[in-house]
This record gives sequence, C-alpha cells and structure tokens, in this order.
Amino acid sequence: MEKDEKNMTCCCSCSSPNALPQEIVAYIHECMQKPHSESYLIPVLHKIQNHFGYLSPVYLEEVAQLMHIPASKITGVATFYHLFSFTPRGKNRISVCLGTACYVKGSGKLMERFKEKLGIKENETTPDGMFSIECSRCFGACALAPVVVVNDKVYGDVKPEQVEKILADYGFKK
Ligand code: FES
Repeated sequence: MEKDEKNMTCCCSCSSPNALPQEIVAYIHECMQKPHSESYLIPVLHKIQNHFGYLSPVYLEEVAQLMHIPASKITGVATFYHLFSFTPRGKNRISVCLGTACYVKGSGKLMERFKEKLGIKENETTPDGMFSIECSRCFGACALAPVVVVNDKVYGDVKPEQVEKILADYGFKK
C-alpha cells in the first residue's frame, strides 16, 4: 500500500493534478472512452482504495476532474458505501464478521474484545498505524462462524480468549 499524495506524472497530456498513480489515471481515461462512463465511478474508487487503502479528498478531487463529475457527487457516492474508508487503515486490517451467522455465534463479543485490547473504536486505526478494525457483513464462510479476517488470513470458530493470540501473531504487545 502506498501513501503518496506527492506529485506524480500523468500518463497523458490531461490537466490532472497528478495525485493518482499512472495506472489508475490510465484506467480512468479508458473508462471515459466507454459509453456511460459515469457508471465506472465505483470501480475507479475501488481501485484507488485498493492502492492507497483509503480515499482522500485529494484523490476524489482528481477523479472529479478526470471523470467530469462534480466532487460533491463523488463524495456522496463514496460515503454511501460502507466499504469505502476515508482515513488511512492500519498495516494490519482486522475485519470481524457481524453477519447473522457469525453474530449469533458471538462475533459481537469478539469485536468488543478486539476494540478493548487495541484501545480503538470501529473504523479507527491505532496511533502507531499497526492495526485498524472494521466490521463486515458476511465473508461467505458462515460454516466457520464466527469469522475474523486479518489482512487476507481467515480465522474461523474464533473464541474471545483467542483474540490476544491473534493480535500477538501480528506483533501486538500490551
Ligand atoms: S455471516 Fe459471517 S461469514 Fe457469513
């Protein structure tokens, strides 16, 4: 994940303010050649979030200019979807499933235990940037409920007393 809002060169001669990397700018240009180019806004936002881990106002402003969509509209779309984040996420992203199958098996308690250990609330990042926590609505792994995903690793049948061990696996000390 790169966090770089400094000058980058655009891949073409457009008047992009150059906060976005070339491959994303190129993707936006490609989308703009297609009919109903506005409908590619969500995939564009996904690409930005996947690259940087979050959406900053600088990126949204650049998307607005490149896609000729008002920045206020882009912000409205981005805030509507919970999967987009507007603050940088931690190096280790913890996602606790609060979907029905996981919730009935106690994932709410897991979420509370993670928050208590890390000293942060949902959608926050620890001050050292190491951990962030968020909820998910179903990973499609309900048979493993309750499910926690840390980065790309899936933990199934998690008990509250395992929370400390999971955090320790990622270098958490307290
Ligand atoms: S409800 Fe948690 S994985 Fe489906």
